[in-house]
Amino acid sequence: MPVHATGYTAFMTDTSLRVLLSAEQIQTRIKELGQQITADYPSGTLQLICILKGACFFLADLARAIERDVRVDFMGISSYGKGKTSSGEVRVTKDLDISLEDSHVLVVEDIVDSGVTLNYLIHILEQRRPKSIHIAALLDKPDRRLRPVHVTYVGFRIPDEFVVGFGLDFAEKYRNLDAICVLEDSPADAANATKTV
Ligand code: IMP
Ligand code: MG
Repeated sequence: MPVHATGYTAFMTDTSLRVLLSAEQIQTRIKELGQQITADYPSGTLQLICILKGACFFLADLARAIERDVRVDFMGISSYGKGKTSSGEVRVTKDLDISLEDSHVLVVEDIVDSGVTLNYLIHILEQRRPKSIHIAALLDKPDRRLRPVHVTYVGFRIPDEFVVGFGLDFAEKYRNLDAICVLEDSPADAANATKTV
């Protein structure tokens, strides 16, 4: 447990959770990403697309760290994993309310794991003719990649462990932890089989 744990993390008694990234580390890194994005988009409006549900916590902090005009919209995706391998089956459960034509688009995602979800999503969004499209992901598990995905802004590269907190869930639990924790004694198969986004 880090010294600076706050909120739910400070009070958690769940012994199956091990803190991997503290709330303070996450906030510091998001501010850095915000500065980098601010510098990379010197003018105009940036269209942020938050992938529900996990990325909404990251989006809220990242948007406030970007010192440019931003617009926000949400997209719901569901992906199904079978055991340790992803089936590659991805479904849009909520589409965008806005057109992307001629917009600078930044897709905001919680974690890139197999890459199946983002590989599919970027393919769909490119057909909507944005001026540019990039990805910001708070976490990246490069060892797990099955499909290629170019992530322009990565918060942290992490090892192949199932993590929860800061938006990430296990069976819808733990999203409101302000730190990112490894969920121990959770077999990768079980985690994959119940993976939600
Ligand atoms: P993909 O395998 O890259 O398609 O990952 C799709 C989604 O699975 C991510 O957006 C997350 O919502 C979820 N996911 C992947 N790894 C983890 C994890 O370690 N913890 C919680 N959710 C995860
Ligand atoms: Mg997600």
